[in-house]
Amino acid sequence: MESGKQLSGTLAVSVFTAVLGSLQYGYSLGVINAPQKVIEKNYGLSLGVWSERAAVLSENSTEEEEFSDAGKHPTVIMYWSLSVAIFSIGGMLSSFLVGFIGDLKGRVKGMLMVNVLAIAAGLLMGFCRMWKPHFMVIAGRAVMGFYCGLTSGLVPMYIGEIAPKAYRGALGTIHQLAIVVGILISQVIGLDFVLGNDDMWPLLLGLSGAPAVLQSLLLPLCPESPRYLYILLGQEQEARRSLHRLKGAYDPSADLEEMRKEKEEADREARVSILSLICSSVYRQQLIVALMMHLSQQLSGINAIFYYSTNIFANAGVAQPVYATIGVGVINTVFTLVSVALVDRAGRRTLTLVGLGGMCCCAVAMTVGLNFKSDYAWMSYVCVAAIFLFVSFFEIGPGPIPWFIVAELFSQGPRPAAIALAGCCNWTSNFIIGMTFPYIQVFLGVYVFVLFAVLLLCFTVFIYLRVPETKGKTFKEIAAVFQKGHKKSPKDATELQQLKTSTDA
Ligand code: GLC
Repeated sequence: MESGKQLSGTLAVSVFTAVLGSLQYGYSLGVINAPQKVIEKNYGLSLGVWSERAAVLSENSTEEEEFSDAGKHPTVIMYWSLSVAIFSIGGMLSSFLVGFIGDLKGRVKGMLMVNVLAIAAGLLMGFCRMWKPHFMVIAGRAVMGFYCGLTSGLVPMYIGEIAPKAYRGALGTIHQLAIVVGILISQVIGLDFVLGNDDMWPLLLGLSGAPAVLQSLLLPLCPESPRYLYILLGQEQEARRSLHRLKGAYDPSADLEEMRKEKEEADREARVSILSLICSSVYRQQLIVALMMHLSQQLSGINAIFYYSTNIFANAGVAQPVYATIGVGVINTVFTLVSVALVDRAGRRTLTLVGLGGMCCCAVAMTVGLNFKSDYAWMSYVCVAAIFLFVSFFEIGPGPIPWFIVAELFSQGPRPAAIALAGCCNWTSNFIIGMTFPYIQVFLGVYVFVLFAVLLLCFTVFIYLRVPETKGKTFKEIAAVFQKGHKKSPKDATELQQLKTSTDA
């Protein structure tokens, strides 16, 4: 059997264990949407908005009436918006630390350490009734965001480093698969007759910490990344053992040889800090590609659909928007599975191009649908179909690929810094869309998707012109594609030497 092609049980367990972190990220992304009204009402209660309203309403009014618009109270709006937004702020801050945590004790121990954060966040939210729920939830969401910023970098880094070359795309896509399954689970158990109700909502939020408990139990069974062991620590025997555990009985010489070359290069390059990566012209092409891939994922408008889908469906005339939103979650999962099957055959570049191009057409169809909805009733179906297709195209390529392609684009030296920067770019643009979309929607009205259509077109052109295919290539071959495009100048040699001297010192 060709070396490096085996998919062993240990590899499957390791990938499964790692993506429990991604599941948690998806769950935390989705959990806050369905129970919004219930949580607002409970914030209103603990903030004393209740007594203000009770004084205005008649004595016989029901609690339901008194709280039906608790979400419109300015103090409640403020605490609610903060509960939503603080998650991304936590992620933006921690994404910078991914390289540091991953290199400190290794990828596996790094994932294990950060689970303390997820469990603490789950407890804060689960027991939020013990003190002021709004403060407890905000604190829990901040810590959970911080955790997710770390996990959204550590998981693709670990999987990218342990996956056999032929399956790197499929296994990398499992990170996104777990995210979308997490979103779907949170949508389903967030329904009011499951946990999205007055009694159970703290449990709904608190459960976001549960996968961390399972992951902590399984991580000690997972082998450390052989690349980390060999290239960073110089432990060849340990790396060999890890390769055997991951790939079964095979001759690891080809893999070790590839790592040896990478190590030679990494020793020459020295560790690259975030700042030196930004300033260095040697990695500029790769860095631009990595950041643009993440920008295209977020500025495609996908989260406008996820955060506000119920609202968008209601505007498009759908009678049961909550169920349509769950339908989006299902489609999302199905098409991520399609991507798992296709990505190592069709390639990253092709799937990203098809995905972004398709999304652009859907954004145009959505605009047409919204514009003519009042003239022709059937136009609501066009809107709904456009949303479903938009999400399907996203999951075929632009959703999963950016997460793992960064680990492919960079060699071991600059990889942690690149993942940190790309993660921060992802979280920041996610935050910006989340905060501004409601205002953009008011400002552009039925033309809101024109904005995303234009952005999608620009990203499609960029990817067509600048992104090479990475499918089936070694990390060294990928780096060589960029070096070919970048003529080495004497300044670059000095730059690399300076980087090395500063690190050696
Ligand atoms: C990607 C994005 C995330 C989005 C999700 C939807 O993981 O990073 O922001 O919510 O896809 O499937």
